[in-house]
Amino acid sequence: MTDSLVPIQRLIRSVADFPKPGVTFRDVTPLLADAGGFARCIDALAEPWQGSGVQAVCGIESRGFIFGAALAQKLHAGFVPLRKPGKLPPPLVTVEYELEYGRDSLQARSDALKPGERTLIVDDVLATGGTLAAARELVERLDAVLVGASVLIELPALNGRARWSGEAPVHSLLRY
Ligand code: PRP
Ligand code: MG
Repeated sequence: MTDSLVPIQRLIRSVADFPKPGVTFRDVTPLLADAGGFARCIDALAEPWQGSGVQAVCGIESRGFIFGAALAQKLHAGFVPLRKPGKLPPPLVTVEYELEYGRDSLQARSDALKPGERTLIVDDVLATGGTLAAARELVERLDAVLVGASVLIELPALNGRARWSGEAPVHSLLRY
């Protein structure tokens, strides 16, 4: 991690045993509440993608909306929400994915991305990688061009990158 990321990391609160025993929750709300910290965070998330012609940023519900919408503005791109089921009206594209216990799905409007549109996926955390892989499948089903993915926090011990295939890069700012 570079020194410039230290002020960002200091604004993330680690909460032991939340939401269940043994899990350490990374609370980004102090970072969001800090004007300078949030701005630096969005600058750092945008940096690898400057000049890569990103036209659309897909943010994953719910915490990916916050970072994705700000990043879309920074990159002069549109913002597309990838939503949990039951939130968007039809026509929709749906991708199901595995959770630790059970299944969930992500949905997008079936015309949310134009064919060939250069698209970046954004979320707050990459853990087991199921969510990001589902978002990737949605973008591919919409015939967009996947430029890559950005997350604020990666948990390398959970090996989420292994579920991400192909050449489009995944960037993470902080690793715990
Ligand atoms: C969390 C986090 C990522 C996802 C990562 O979201 O915000 O989206 O889990 O996990 P994975 O890599 O193991 O798939 P969550 O589904 O808890 O919902 P939220 O964003 O609405 O809080
Ligand atoms: Mg999430």
